[in-house]
Amino acid sequence: MTLQVIQKLKLDQLELEAEKKPQFRDKWMQKEAKVRGTVKRILKCDVTRSNPLEPLLLPAADCLLSFLCLQVASKDEDSFYCVLKNISSLLKPGGYLVTGGVLGGLEVGFDLAPAWDPGDYRAIIIKHLYYKERQAAEQRVKEFHQSPKGQNGIRFQYHKLPGAFNPKDYLETYYGAESGLLISDGYLQFILKNLYKTFTSAGDIKGDILVDIGSGASIYTFLSACESFTEIIATDYTDRNRQELKLWLNKEPEAFDWSAVVKLACELEGDRDKWTEKEAKVRETVKRVLKCDVTRNNPLEPLMLPAADCLLTCLCLQAACKNEDAVYSALKNMSSLLKPGGYLVMGGVLGSTFYTVGHKTFGNTPLHKDLLEKAISEAGFEILELVTQNHTYPVPITLSDYYGHYFILARKQSNTS
Ligand SMILES: C[S@@+](CC[C@H](N)C(=O)[O-])C[C@H]1O[C@@H](n2cnc3c(N)ncnc32)[C@H](O)[C@@H]1O
Repeated sequence: MTLQVIQKLKLDQLELEAEKKPQFRDKWMQKEAKVRGTVKRILKCDVTRSNPLEPLLLPAADCLLSFLCLQVASKDEDSFYCVLKNISSLLKPGGYLVTGGVLGGLEVGFDLAPAWDPGDYRAIIIKHLYYKERQAAEQRVKEFHQSPKGQNGIRFQYHKLPGAFNPKDYLETYYGAESGLLISDGYLQFILKNLYKTFTSAGDIKGDILVDIGSGASIYTFLSACESFTEIIATDYTDRNRQELKLWLNKEPEAFDWSAVVKLACELEGDRDKWTEKEAKVRETVKRVLKCDVTRNNPLEPLMLPAADCLLTCLCLQAACKNEDAVYSALKNMSSLLKPGGYLVMGGVLGSTFYTVGHKTFGNTPLHKDLLEKAISEAGFEILELVTQNHTYPVPITLSDYYGHYFILARKQSNTS
């Protein structure tokens, strides 16, 4: 950097101290014009490539600036080393690198779960840490959730982006036939197999009413249950999810196409070709789609329904509960909808602290096997079956950070109200 450039930087810094020097403050328009006059090109750049400006080959620069970019662009520490080497290839020997940003391995994400207390919108995304040391990362997540705000040196910020959950994006990202994450990572096959076993083959769990809690706009949870229950009641917190679900139930043309998933379930049941009959059976059995909030004592308030024979819930509690205590309460609240001796069937992912839908990131309370066991038992259930598996496909950190799947079958004890 030449002396001239350094002097210029000092001058700019003085201008930033504008409060004390009003004569500089007034020059802001010239400053804007100067920036516009000096920034001559905006180029595509990818710091993970050996030549970040590929296919261009520019003359080597005198100076590189990079602010708040490298931490986002590097997926782990090794790639951070590579990124620095790559950007260095753009610079003259003896040239300068000027870089700035924030310190720390945690990145703060945004929670949007609708039922969370405003003012407690928080979630963390473990990034660098997660790739290398899963256990340490999980510990940090636990500490974070148990700690009062701002302790443990963990920074976080609040963001509230109401109404951001887009059901179509959710379904496409997680259940899309070509690239849905929950299909490619083995979740759906795992859950469908266990639901099939529970409802139609070995388990033989049947009855009149089954309530699915936090159905979202998904129908895969009904595919085996519809063979064993007279009525399925679907529920969800958000209007948009319930509307999207109704599109499918009413066979509207703009509804999500679940046929690939329905065929998979039929294949498990022995006849893939029966998928149209299966869709018809689901539509006939799901008789109501109700508003539900698991944070309320009666999640279906103001309705009081006859107690159900079975409760089913997949991928809901982690999203609906703001911390571990809320998981304990939600299970008790849900249990109030169930007959003594009735069944609770639960499935989902383990350890997820967030998931992404479209461009929005939603916070989760990470569920682990020990937490699930304790909370389900404390809510008055006897656990009959608990199966977990690691996922079979690396989950892109841009979408979520879970490490496995679980399935649980439990029975409400007869002496529980
Ligand atoms: C990740 S989605 C899962 C949807 C569906 N069960 C599935 O397996 O695809 C989480 C769902 O929980 C619902 N949810 C969030 N807060 C809730 C609450 N307080 N009570 C009930 N459901 C809630 C959301 O609206 C959303 O549909």
